[in-house]
Amino acid sequence: MENFTAFNPVRLHFGRDVVNHLGKTVKQFGNKVLLTYGQGSVKKYGYYDKVITQLKAAGLEVSEYSGIKPNPVVEDVEKAVALGRKHQVEVIVALGGGSVVDSSKVIALSIASGLDPWEIMTYAVNPEKTIPLVNVLTLAATGTEMNAAAVVQNRKTGQKLGFVHPLNFPKEAFLDPQFTATVPANYTAYGIVDLIAHALEAYFGEGEPSVIDSITFAIIKDAIQWGPELMKDLGNYELRANIMLDATLALNGLTMYGKKSGDWGVHGMGHELSLLYDTAHGATLSIAYPAWMKLKKEKLSVRIRKLGRGVFGVNTAEETIEAFTAFFSSIQSPVTLTEIGLDKSNSREIIAQFNKNGVSGMCHKLSNDDYARLVDLML
Ligand code: NZQ
Ligand code: ZN
Repeated sequence: MENFTAFNPVRLHFGRDVVNHLGKTVKQFGNKVLLTYGQGSVKKYGYYDKVITQLKAAGLEVSEYSGIKPNPVVEDVEKAVALGRKHQVEVIVALGGGSVVDSSKVIALSIASGLDPWEIMTYAVNPEKTIPLVNVLTLAATGTEMNAAAVVQNRKTGQKLGFVHPLNFPKEAFLDPQFTATVPANYTAYGIVDLIAHALEAYFGEGEPSVIDSITFAIIKDAIQWGPELMKDLGNYELRANIMLDATLALNGLTMYGKKSGDWGVHGMGHELSLLYDTAHGATLSIAYPAWMKLKKEKLSVRIRKLGRGVFGVNTAEETIEAFTAFFSSIQSPVTLTEIGLDKSNSREIIAQFNKNGVSGMCHKLSNDDYARLVDLML
């Protein structure tokens, strides 16, 4: 067991109609609100109306920044910061999935500190203050609603980076599974993959506290049990609720108790694939995880076998990897590069991109030779 410090200041409101007390919750942080959202789903499905009704009823002054794209880009963050500064906003309400919430974390830091968003993302500067962030989540996947990470990409520099800072913790998170009922099948599957991948990144990190291994297996098993049911019944409240809670628990710090770090090498690979081909985050992970486990199968055989026994009741590393691959496939998330339209002719650019940004894990390092093998294993 490794030494650890646990801290999570996010107040989580979970369940049916929790958004009914959004207005008065936001009001405690200020009167001038910046409402951020994505490319239209929240208006199409009525979530925007529910939120704006709450904010208006509480007498709040609202400016809006919309259009944040999946795999969010720093340009949107910059524009939202300019808008927020102009209106001297005091609190941000992020309505959307991980892309909107992550962007809003950096928007909040930049507005409060006056620092440049990309300099914040690259750790070139250290923000010392932020403005309060309240999120209303519409997609279960990233865990961003209750964690201190923000992931944003910069196409000019060719980087998709994660920025982790205690000031990134939202103040409040509103999770109503009803708000996720309209997530289409593909993103529902990617969310299930993403949450499982977060549990795996923690599991393959440094430190092996046995109770945390068991909790990690429980999260993965729950997603594997209910995920396929949800894929057949996308509007089912109980199934949405189970997956939503799984996603929050997979990356809110719980799976890191008794550990020094997670690994995150597979996420590193995934971010490069998202950058190159604009592939959805979860889809990159269902491709990269089986390949990474195959690469590490000898070195990590004890750990992989424990995982297989705990999650699937199988005995060998091969069976474990096969079971994860089959599960990802069963919910229609791609498990090869071929399935996202790539082939051997793309190998060189992928390897070059891994090289450029030095893709590696925190515990299990990846070498240049590994990159070539990984790309072969993903094809
Ligand atoms: O833009 P709109 O129109 O809102 O559509 C979105 C988007 O197209 C749509 N959507 C969201 N909620 C919906 C909905 N459609 C219908 N009904 C709803 N209720 O779904 C699409 C994907 O949205 P996005 O926010 O991009 O998805 P997700 O939540 O998976 O976030 C992915 C981003 O989070 C980062 C990823 O790298 C990626 O950039 N991550 C953030 C992490 C963190 N902060 O801790 C950890 C993760 O490992 C991950 O890296
Ligand atoms: Zn992820």
